[in-house]
Amino acid sequence: MFEDVVRPQIRALEPYVPGRSIDEIRQQYGIERVVKMASNENPLGVSNLVREALGRHADTVFRYPAGGNPRLVAALAEHWQIPAGRIAVGNGSDEIIDMLVRMLATPERDNVVCFRPCFSLYPIQSLIQGVEIRRQPVNEDFSFNFDKLFSLVDEKTRLVFVTTPDNPSGFCPRPDEVLDLARKLPDNCLLVIDEAYMDFAPAEGETEADWSLFKRGDLPANAAVIRTFSKSYGLAGLRIGVGILPEELAGYYWRARLPFSVNILAEEAVLAALKDTAFRELTLQTVREGRKQLHEGLEALGCTVWPSRANFLMFQPPAHCQARTLYEKLLSRGVIVRALASYDLPDFIRVSVGDKSENRLFLQETEAILQEQA
Ligand SMILES: Cc1ncc(COP(=O)(O)O)c(C=O)c1O
Repeated sequence: MFEDVVRPQIRALEPYVPGRSIDEIRQQYGIERVVKMASNENPLGVSNLVREALGRHADTVFRYPAGGNPRLVAALAEHWQIPAGRIAVGNGSDEIIDMLVRMLATPERDNVVCFRPCFSLYPIQSLIQGVEIRRQPVNEDFSFNFDKLFSLVDEKTRLVFVTTPDNPSGFCPRPDEVLDLARKLPDNCLLVIDEAYMDFAPAEGETEADWSLFKRGDLPANAAVIRTFSKSYGLAGLRIGVGILPEELAGYYWRARLPFSVNILAEEAVLAALKDTAFRELTLQTVREGRKQLHEGLEALGCTVWPSRANFLMFQPPAHCQARTLYEKLLSRGVIVRALASYDLPDFIRVSVGDKSENRLFLQETEAILQEQA
């Protein structure tokens, strides 16, 4: 009945294929022990301070959150030492991405520029908005050619997306290169720097300032940075993302956003998570160590592994075993990783860094499968 009236952009969408859940795999294969290393979640789970805060505030959920999430915004401004007027909070950074596309790109006229492959939401939300999406393939080694990306920009480009560190490769460009791109773009084109995985970028002895742009005083007026509480803070299920936007755009964001998209418990969870510095430090250390354990372990098994500054690794199995086979056999042995066919990378797999025993289990099962296939 609605076939003829549903907008063509929506009809053109492929059904979303979500990652497999632990319960699903338990049922399908009749196995008890299943680990999920597919969605780049926190390997340590939930912070105790967050758990307590959620319990303490359970009685408040019959109320609506305060419009504009003022306590949350004030706490973030204080914590990060950035002006409150630049902060936009959303239902995950997904909402910030969606809103920026909808706020800036006019359907049937404007375009959005990003790399290929990239985080799927940039092209999907652009498609839904009815704007052209222009994509520059990343280099063979998954690094970025910013000149080529810039060559796709014209007077109708409203947004350029850059992910740093990148998903799915883990590549992290030098911050000065990203800044150069922002400076070259026209004033009315927003560079969106998605730092979802930035917390994990610094190696031992480095600081976030070596890689991140969100606190840089010299960030041009046409640049925005996105951060999320889904990864290092362990709050993926509560959905909180933050945009540090040009002040003028932040004002429009708050006018256009659905009024209560960040809920009361999510607010309390962030306030508690910001206080739990020990949990966050332990998370960062666990990821740094686990990333090394996985990288070395996979290389020892003959896989090609891409250097990553995020909480996941992208790799290719040795020639005698297809990525699809390894992915499916890992599932049947209770290890969920991410096959990258949906990123147009059918020969690649992405594995999230787990805790030490999850990493060990993943490596053991991978080794067994590779031997079986030899
Ligand atoms: C690059 C990137 N940006 C944004 C997100 C969205 O994160 P969230 O909506 O959970 O904040 C993800 C999620 O995996 C991501 O990989």
